This record gives sequence, structure tokens and C-alpha cells, in this order.
Amino acid sequence: MNIQELNALHIIHVASVIVLIAYTFFAFAGPPETKKRVMMITGIATLLVLLTGIRMWQGVYAFAAMGWIIVKIVCWLGLSALTGMAYRRREKANVLMIVALVLAITALAMVYVKPF
Ligand code: HEM
Repeated sequence: MNIQELNALHIIHVASVIVLIAYTFFAFAGPPETKKRVMMITGIATLLVLLTGIRMWQGVYAFAAMGWIIVKIVCWLGLSALTGMAYRRREKANVLMIVALVLAITALAMVYVKPF
């Protein structure tokens, strides 16, 4: 993989993560008529996070089974599921928002610390 592709992947990956988290938080408070649009945006963002992540995993690490990637995938799964729950579980919004933050920060820490 050349440096231009890797740069583009990093930027699209992190930009999509920002969109995913931003709209997930909106989903906890937005009116019901915004649901369709927000689910569309988070759906595209979450797919981009996964696809760019998998391409970097392949290109940089040849799909080596490293623990930190597995943890990231689990965090990504959790975050993606939360977006769907945000409109339906308003009474749990406070705890779910904390879970979303913990998942996002854990995924972030994994990529910089790579502890296992
Ligand atoms: C919500 C979940 C995620 C967050 C918050 C996140 C965040 C990040 C961040 C901040 C970077 C560093 C970019 C840089 O240093 O320029 C990164 C890189 C990366 N991410 Fe993710 N990511 C997530 C999900 C995933 C998933 C699901 C995968 C794999 C399928 C993945 C695989 C990777 C890989 C392989 C890299 C490159 C690491 C390297 O350059 O050494 N990420 N991610």
C-alpha cells in the first residue's frame, strides 16, 4: 500500500468515526422525525469505519490477529448498536451515552497504545 492510500484511509477512517459519534449523540436527543436521516448517516459512517479499518488491517498488518484490533472491532460493534437503540431507549440515554464514550475512548486508546 502506498503512502497516499494509507493517508486517505486514515483520514476517511477517523472522519467517519467523528461523524458516527456526533450523530449517535444527536440520536439520543433528536426528535423522532430525524430518525430516518440520522440512521442513514450513521449507517454509511459505520460502514466506512469498518471498510477502511479492514483495508488498513490488511495493508499494514496482513490481517495478523492482534488483540487491539479485536477490541476495536468489539467497540465498533457496540457503538453501531447504540445508534439504533438511541431513539428507542430515551429513558436510558444517560447511561447509554456514557457507554458510547467509553467504547469510543477504548477504541482510540487501543490504536495508540496497542497493548496486546
Ligand atoms: C469506533 C471504533 C473506532 C475508532 C474510535 C477508531 C479510531 C482510530 C484512530 C484514531 C486511528 C489512528 C489514525 C491515525 O493514527 O492516523 C485508527 C487507526 C486504525 N484503525 Fe480504527 N477505529 C475504530 C474502529 C476500527 C475497526 C472496526 C477496525 C478494524 C476492522 C480498525 C482498524 C484500524 C487500523 C488497522 C488502523 C491503523 C493503525 C496503524 O496505522 O497502525 N479501526 N483507528
